[in-house]
Amino acid sequence: MANACEFPCEPGYRLHHGERVADIAASVCETEGVAIPDPVILYFGALMHDIGKCGCPKGVSHAAHGVKIVETHFADLLSPGEMADICEIILLHCERPKGKWAAKWTHTPTFKPVVLAVQDADVLDHFGPSGIWVSFHWAAVKNSSPEETARFWFESEQSAEWRAESLQSLNFESSRAAFVKHIDMMNAFYRTWAK
Ligand SMILES: [Fe+2]
Ligand SMILES: [Fe+2]
Repeated sequence: MANACEFPCEPGYRLHHGERVADIAASVCETEGVAIPDPVILYFGALMHDIGKCGCPKGVSHAAHGVKIVETHFADLLSPGEMADICEIILLHCERPKGKWAAKWTHTPTFKPVVLAVQDADVLDHFGPSGIWVSFHWAAVKNSSPEETARFWFESEQSAEWRAESLQSLNFESSRAAFVKHIDMMNAFYRTWAK
C-alpha cells in the first residue's frame, strides 16, 4: 500500500485503534448476547474499519475508500463471502442509525448486529483512557499548552456537543453505560490533573 497516512497522530495509531475497536466490538457482542457468525470476520472488519483514512481522496468517504483498499489488496486472501461481510462492516461503520445521523434515513436501517457493535466500539474508543491520550497527543501536534488542550477537550461547548452526539449515536444499552463510565473517568482525570 503506497498511500502515506496523513492523519496527525503517531504512526500506528490507526492500527492500535483498529485493534481496540475489534476487542471492544467482541465484548459488546458478548455483553449484548449478539451472535458472532464468524469471529475472524468481525475482527478483520473492525481492525480495518478506518484503513481508508490513509490517502482518502477529498469528497470520498473513508469507509468507501477503505472498501476499495481491502478489495484491491486482500482479494487473494479472502473468499467472496468473507470479502463481502468484511467490506459491509467497513462500509457501514459510520452509517449510524441513531443520533444526529438518524435524520438522513427515511426508514431506520436494519444493519447486522455485528455492524452495530463495531459502530459502538468505534465511538467508545474515542473516550476513556484513549480519549485522554489523544487529547494530549493533539496538544503536542497542534503545539497548544496542556491547559488549552484540557480546556478544549474537557470544558468547551464543542467537546460537550461531541460527547452528547456520541452518546446518542450508540446502539446498545451496555455501550451507553460504558460511555458514561468513560466520560466520568476522563472528568475525574481532568479534575485531578487541573489541581
Ligand atoms: Fe471511521
Ligand atoms: Fe474509527
